[in-house]
Amino acid sequence: MAKASAPGKCILFGEHAVVYGHPAIALAIDQRMTMKVSPSKQWWLDGMPLNFERHPHIQTLKNRLWADGPPLSIEIHTEIPPGSGLGSSAALSVAAAAVLRSMRGRHTDSEGNWCEGWSSARENDVYNSSGENRSGEILITGKQSIDIDECAILAHAVEANAQGGRASPIDSSTCAHGGCILLSDKVEDEAKWLYSRTLNTPEKETKWEIHSLRLPASLENTWLVIGNTEVHSPTSIQVEKVAQSLQTNPEMKQIINAIGMVTRRGITALQEGNLNAIGNSMTENHILLRSLGVSCPELERLIAAALPTSYGAKLTGAGGGGCMIALTDEPKRTSEAIELAGGRTMITRLASMGLQGDKATDKPLWNPFEK
Ligand code: MEV
Repeated sequence: MAKASAPGKCILFGEHAVVYGHPAIALAIDQRMTMKVSPSKQWWLDGMPLNFERHPHIQTLKNRLWADGPPLSIEIHTEIPPGSGLGSSAALSVAAAAVLRSMRGRHTDSEGNWCEGWSSARENDVYNSSGENRSGEILITGKQSIDIDECAILAHAVEANAQGGRASPIDSSTCAHGGCILLSDKVEDEAKWLYSRTLNTPEKETKWEIHSLRLPASLENTWLVIGNTEVHSPTSIQVEKVAQSLQTNPEMKQIINAIGMVTRRGITALQEGNLNAIGNSMTENHILLRSLGVSCPELERLIAAALPTSYGAKLTGAGGGGCMIALTDEPKRTSEAIELAGGRTMITRLASMGLQGDKATDKPLWNPFEK
């Protein structure tokens, strides 16, 4: 049996523009997805036969990590509403990558260097040892075989696949590493650089520098209230809609550039712990997202209800429905106002912990190199 959990995320600044290489900031939220996997006679998902066609994320990860491994029974417990812009598919992919790796284990050489896996340090190259000369190798299993960076790489590949080749690594990196994640087109001095990621999108090759950002202690008593419109909104559709608008109206590019500029102001405000400035940048960011065409009446209603008791509010994620967030030190009042306007609320701290491999089997359940 193996178990892992990953947090959902919310984007504080920069969604959509980040797909085109602009900066963005996301925070891991308290709401999590937990996945438990155990050996089984057939593939199950939450007690029902698993139809891989309906679960492409699980299918892609199975192909990468569990190709013709034996069937598994998968149980998912989630506090992250799906299709709501809170990273449920990234959290699922990160947790699934972790449980499959821990059930499979990893071959290393006698010095602990990997002989198989995916790593940013190796520029995302897939590398599998040839299968010859396995004699000197060691098989590490369970929790110690899980690698957060590897889970983030695999989750990004899955997201890119699901979003027609246009997906930034913001969701996958935040759900894997937790805390506060900053993506930028350059290495930032004020943040801890983690790795680079490159993706060939239909438009161009895009490169992101991924960092983790320490939040100032002054933000400890600040909360985000998440308001869910409960209007289901798949990310792929909104990302495609923005891509189409940019093709038909090239002047929309100015909105994307403006989101990049507001995000830069937001990053500075966040580093300074200046709540008013963070809130103003969030609200400005929302106005730009509205001009981009990804807001909707339900989001507008919840945002208007939240503003009187918060520093700022905006839609979060792909938009078109899904969720909004409000930054506040009066979470109860803000939450009540959003609920009165018809939203479902959740409250979260600003940066929660990332992937946790809670429990894992000691013996690999499947060794792809053993014939
Ligand atoms: C989705 O959470 C965020 C988007 O910017 C898409 C992406 O970054 O891949 C809309």
